[in-house]
Amino acid sequence: MSNKATIELDGKKYEFPVVVGTENEVAIEIKSLRADTGGLITLDPGYKNTGSCKSAITFLNGEEGILRYRGYSIEELADKASFLEVAYLLIFGELPTQEQLDKLYKDIKKESHVDEEMKKILDGFPKSAHPMGVLSSLTSALIAFNPSAVNVESDEEMYNAIIKLLAKFPVLVAWTLRKKNGQPLDYGDSSLDYVDNILKMMFKSPHEEHYDIDPVVSSALNKLLILHADHEQNCSTSTVRIVGSSHAGLFASISAGISALWGPLHGGANQAVIEMLENIKEDGGDTKKYMGKAKDKEDPFRLMGFGHRVYKNFDPRAKIIKKSADQVLDQLGVEDPVLDIAKGLEKEALEDSYFVDRKLYPNVDFYSGIIYRALGIPTEMFTVMFALGRLPGWIAQWREMRLEKEPIGRPRQVYTGENLRDFKDISKR
Ligand code: SDX
Repeated sequence: MSNKATIELDGKKYEFPVVVGTENEVAIEIKSLRADTGGLITLDPGYKNTGSCKSAITFLNGEEGILRYRGYSIEELADKASFLEVAYLLIFGELPTQEQLDKLYKDIKKESHVDEEMKKILDGFPKSAHPMGVLSSLTSALIAFNPSAVNVESDEEMYNAIIKLLAKFPVLVAWTLRKKNGQPLDYGDSSLDYVDNILKMMFKSPHEEHYDIDPVVSSALNKLLILHADHEQNCSTSTVRIVGSSHAGLFASISAGISALWGPLHGGANQAVIEMLENIKEDGGDTKKYMGKAKDKEDPFRLMGFGHRVYKNFDPRAKIIKKSADQVLDQLGVEDPVLDIAKGLEKEALEDSYFVDRKLYPNVDFYSGIIYRALGIPTEMFTVMFALGRLPGWIAQWREMRLEKEPIGRPRQVYTGENLRDFKDISKR
């Protein structure tokens, strides 16, 4: 592989260094492009061909359907690790020893109190408020009660800010759900592990003496959170990095990431998938009609949960979730007709040239909603669960961006508006 790339323009040649990553990904580093060429820039809407950074956190290969966190395969982690172990791995780079994991959870438990004033902010929202908007606001509001900016040069301050977020975010998630259900905003039970405590905070009814953790539900949620934990430079992670690049705080950066994840083309797709499957069911289960709509350029309908910016093969997470969906519904004794509709759609799409030619496969969102629903999670909370899983990845990426002293993100543009013109008095327009 050559270590230089040449751009030729108007008879002039410009050379730029070639960067090769540890998985042999190759990039042309163009940070001196404007200076070397007197103003030339590249144009790449949606950054489909543009790398924003070097990162050591997550590797994915879209053509081969590979996903690894810090070198460990998603299949192994989903099968063998706890979500808190994966959070530690993503953020600090190594799987924790038992001692490190115990300390992490001990520190989290110490910080899991959320200021009672936060309940007044939550009370200000109507019950109809979408949980993602509530969660983004509450996450930003945490700043008011933790005002000191993180000195990233201090390992201790960075660690403490990370612990606060890992501790308080699940409480905000649980309170967002409980508020919607008109239930008291309780705290968890520190005798439980991290994920079981989340389940108890979310679902313990005020009338129950105690809340029995169903091992099937606990294991399914642990797996789902791991599968969502990071995904390199996706839309919401890039948002967290670019907001953090202005040296805005960690909480503010995560709040921005939650808003980006909300969109139906991104994390909001898991809610959109279930709504789509429900519509197809209501419409008599006519999957062929909806396949036709998805292929019709005049029709804005898209097959939600299908396609991906990077995966041009099966999303490895979708494979794991699909297998888990069958197991979880079977173990919980749940019959969900939309699962059959989903499988029917998938089968048809994988045999349809429109989808095959465009390499459109089921992504992480296609089956996840079916499991969330079986776990008793309301549809509007699905993307909140995605955010809960993605939190350690956002934190890891923000921390890496700050420790690497990345410059403030500021893309350029090609201007296509009016050329210079003189102001005309209104009487002359
Ligand atoms: C996530 O980036 C990440 O890593 C994200 C994520 C993560 O973990 O962070 O993996 C999570 O966001 C998964 C994606 C969830 N979104 C959806 O399921 C929404 C439905 N999918 C599409 O909107 C779309 O596939 C995207 C947004 C996911 C990707 O869009 P791209 O890469 O910009 O692709 P495109 O829009 O350029 O589509 C290429 C072609 C087009 O047709 P042509 O113009 O070539 O004729 O494929 C078509 C598109 O119309 N197409 C679809 C389709 N997705 C793409 N047609 C019908 N249904 C679809 N779902």
